[in-house]
Amino acid sequence: MDDSAEALTAAKRAAGYQAADMVEDGMVLGLGTGSTVFYALKRLSTRISEGLRISGVPTSYQTARRAHEYGIPLTTLDAEPVIDLAMDGADQVDVQLRLIKGRGAALTREKCVAAAALRFVVVVDEQKMVPVLSGLVPVEVIPFAIRPVMTRLQDLGCIPHLRDGIKKDGPVITDNGNFIVDCEFGEIGNPEELEDLFAAIPGVVESGLFCSFTRKTTVIVGNQKKCKIINSADIIP
Ligand code: A5P
Repeated sequence: MDDSAEALTAAKRAAGYQAADMVEDGMVLGLGTGSTVFYALKRLSTRISEGLRISGVPTSYQTARRAHEYGIPLTTLDAEPVIDLAMDGADQVDVQLRLIKGRGAALTREKCVAAAALRFVVVVDEQKMVPVLSGLVPVEVIPFAIRPVMTRLQDLGCIPHLRDGIKKDGPVITDNGNFIVDCEFGEIGNPEELEDLFAAIPGVVESGLFCSFTRKTTVIVGNQKKCKIINSADIIP
């Protein structure tokens, strides 16, 4: 591993470990998806072996498998409709703690779990912090409606790309049996409005814009040396 890859790994590990250290005995957790939050799962595994009692709702098959491997007890939103603390990664975080998520195609379950949580802890490295959200916004779409939805997405001013699988021919199929369309935008001037516009398209299940959780969000920005903690009170209006 070269120096920059090692620094990135150290930053992700630091953020993940710090999130896991915020967990208290008896909590029900939301377990996000991705390489950063997996460090939190690793640290939770150690804390469980030291006596911590928790259970977690996984946001993907991958996270469920990882949690099983790490001895983290799992539960469901049916059994635990209110989550004490959800932890997850993000692809971009802006100065108002709005997020783009979904690189791993888990955005719908991630948004359901974040919505059910009293607190939402987002773990990222410094590269994810941006002044303005921009670039690819993943959107989950039911296959039945893919053609009209692609047209409607284009009308929103983006270039929509149907996401293809790696080691699978054809489109990615999400854990919910749907397609992912990556919507290529420039800078996103009004992310709240765009999130609402996505939600209003019949056939769209969810988008990777997470704008409504900022008040309960804490962002842990990992660094090789020390993590930076950003809360809603630090939001720049
Ligand atoms: C999963 O679909 C995503 O929302 C991830 O949570 C996000 O891409 C962050 O992943 P990394 O921590 O691997 O960058």
